[in-house]
Amino acid sequence: MSEFRFPARFLWGAATSAYQIEGAVAEDGRGESIWDRFCREPGRVDNGDTGDIACDHYHRWRDDIELMRRLELNSYRFSVAWPRIFPIGKGQPNKAGLAFYERLVDALLAAGIRPLVTLYHWDLPAALQERGGWTNRDTAYRFRDYAAFLFERLGDRVDLWLTVNEPYVAAVLGHALGMHAPGLKDLNAALRAAHHLLLAHGLAVEAFDDLGMRKTSRGQGPARIGLALDIHAYAPASDREADWEAMERARTLEARWFVEPVLAGRYPQEGLEWYKGQGVEPPVKDEDMALISRPIDIFGLNYYRRHTVAHDPSQPIFGYRVEVPPGRPVTELGWEVYPQGLHEVLAWVRDTYLASPAAQPAEGSIAFFITENGAAYPDVLEPEAAAPKADADRPPAPGTQKRGPRVRDVERRDYIAAHLYYVWRAIQDGIPVEGYWAWSLMDNFEWTRGYSCRFGLVYVNFTTQERIIKDSGRWYSAVCGENGLEVDPERLVG
Ligand code: FCB
Repeated sequence: MSEFRFPARFLWGAATSAYQIEGAVAEDGRGESIWDRFCREPGRVDNGDTGDIACDHYHRWRDDIELMRRLELNSYRFSVAWPRIFPIGKGQPNKAGLAFYERLVDALLAAGIRPLVTLYHWDLPAALQERGGWTNRDTAYRFRDYAAFLFERLGDRVDLWLTVNEPYVAAVLGHALGMHAPGLKDLNAALRAAHHLLLAHGLAVEAFDDLGMRKTSRGQGPARIGLALDIHAYAPASDREADWEAMERARTLEARWFVEPVLAGRYPQEGLEWYKGQGVEPPVKDEDMALISRPIDIFGLNYYRRHTVAHDPSQPIFGYRVEVPPGRPVTELGWEVYPQGLHEVLAWVRDTYLASPAAQPAEGSIAFFITENGAAYPDVLEPEAAAPKADADRPPAPGTQKRGPRVRDVERRDYIAAHLYYVWRAIQDGIPVEGYWAWSLMDNFEWTRGYSCRFGLVYVNFTTQERIIKDSGRWYSAVCGENGLEVDPERLVG
């Protein structure tokens, strides 16, 4: 066993998003979101699940902060539900909606937990969708207004901000593959949505600067902003040229399409050509790329798995499929466990986009945050162990007390440990990773999977809303508390 210590002030967190945990969808003036509507369409979500109640976090947030304290987190990533703040996406703000996040932020700070706020984690106000949603350029400007409002209202207390979460998923799964809200199958719509999500990011960063957020000290320092991108590790399914090409196509369309505009101010040429071949192009206007590539402070990486890509013309639209090489470990969702990929992706971003001095942001430099990483495994909740028969005269011997229910999620613990080891390795290589947020704080509404799979460090009983810290959570609390982990690198999964 070796000990791997992390830099002082490393941020140890867990992440959630509004629609996945809050519930209370019709309370205190919240407007409808595209996910409320999507969940009501038959066949969209496993088991007909919805986020109507989810983890009831909207009412149980105090208990949930207590859980974070017990996990020894020093940071918490959550998202604000746009339809709570602007029920129809624009116009008059809803005071009660804002008040919820003010209470949450105040209580987090009182508990010594630093908020990392995501502005958009997929719950677009339904009223904006009626006017085209992300396919309509105007939505990006409405996002700017919403972002500016939150900077003004929470910016005295929140100093870490993310604009959009995983624009690839929102654009492509939502508009081309019909798997996420709003459920469209239209490549042109997906490309428009992707561009307007990037533009929304850039406009929010511009608003951030217009308000002087990066100039003055707020919260714990000058505020910082960035976005969270999902980037996989990649491998070709074989040495055949077609598979190599398919892998590059996947990397271009899934990752470079979003990283490159933000860090280099352009769309990747190969991607533009491929889309052109499909008869579509992004609706770029003159100033867009300059806005999208405004300097950011935080590069948020959501990393889960490796994509081993095989050329497959029978696959709709993109013409490739993702495989898992034989014998490789997978999570419950069939995602390959490939921890060293976290290091590979960080190095790829740095070497490809941040290595040249010209690529550096004007002020300061970009920090990497691992904004999501975690795994679904079929958890088994062991019932409360009965206490041995009490001896009236003597107190129970140590270790024989009644034990609460327990989840022995060894695989999740090993998954996180292995990925943390590669975060540590990346830091040794000089990659400035400043924090790690496990996905997720607690089991929650996993989009199209509903409640059928669990990612939490904390188990949630969705009937009683009881929370039980899993073994992975107890282990993680020690890592957070000690600012490091003990692992045997030889025995890491993957
Ligand atoms: C990411 C999402 C997050 C969660 C995890 C498992 O793509 O950002 O909300 O669903 O996957």
